[in-house]
Amino acid sequence: MVASRLAKRLLHFGLKTYGQYYQLLNNGQHPHEFQLMINILTTNETYFFREPQHFDYVKDKILKHWRGDNFRLWSAASSTGEEAYSLGMLLTEQLGSRRWEIFGSDVNTDVLDVARNGVYLMNRLENMDKHYLDTYCLKGVRSQKGYFRVDEKIRNHVQFGQINLKADLSKNLGFFDVIFLRNVLIYFDKETKQEILRRIIPMLKSGGHFFISHSETLHGLSVDLRMIKPSIYQKPRKLLNTRGFLGSR
Ligand SMILES: C[S@@+](CC[C@H](N)C(=O)[O-])C[C@H]1O[C@@H](n2cnc3c(N)ncnc32)[C@H](O)[C@@H]1O
Repeated sequence: MVASRLAKRLLHFGLKTYGQYYQLLNNGQHPHEFQLMINILTTNETYFFREPQHFDYVKDKILKHWRGDNFRLWSAASSTGEEAYSLGMLLTEQLGSRRWEIFGSDVNTDVLDVARNGVYLMNRLENMDKHYLDTYCLKGVRSQKGYFRVDEKIRNHVQFGQINLKADLSKNLGFFDVIFLRNVLIYFDKETKQEILRRIIPMLKSGGHFFISHSETLHGLSVDLRMIKPSIYQKPRKLLNTRGFLGSR
């Protein structure tokens, strides 16, 4: 897979071997090539309301009872933005005029451009409720026929930025009520998964929820999370006990 995806870059530069391409990446003469290579190598499959049970859980078990001030959610491998915007539609319905924001991040800059634009093909909407489509998606006409754009009512609450989960999370992103980290841990070995979780889980608020895909597991990894059901986890709430000590539940 790596070889076939990179073959077109070798062709582009007229190179014969992957070793030559590796040298080109490192010789400093093509500063944009490294990012281009990352964009080619990542797999960005995603769609609106993927794994619908997660959206039902957010709606029924988290948002219905939420009494905070600014609900913050992080889609931590957002790809082209469908996950973040699906959650945006849910949040705007459930939280009404209360404050909320979503941050979507990915290592691939091409998918982030698509996400910021918020324009998608109409034919990839099997899981989207018609109500959401009618209320939050503007259908294209003439040259835009066959496409829709996510309404700015949603887009105004959703920001995207480049974050490499394997690098230091040095940007101060603040704390989140919910983190979606779905369909990305599968690409990493156990040590890398553990390292990523070690850096991400502290960014979850006490009592906050963490979602991975149904096809992934945290089994064998050490994390300060309680499993609610497969793929859905919660960070224990820190409580002050009667003597004023911090405990957890
Ligand atoms: C299969 S998509 C998952 C999209 C969405 N979360 C979903 O479940 O539908 C995986 C995404 O992870 C991103 N990714 C891969 N390695 C990454 C890394 N080290 N840091 C951040 N994102 C990464 C890819 O660029 C890709 O867009």
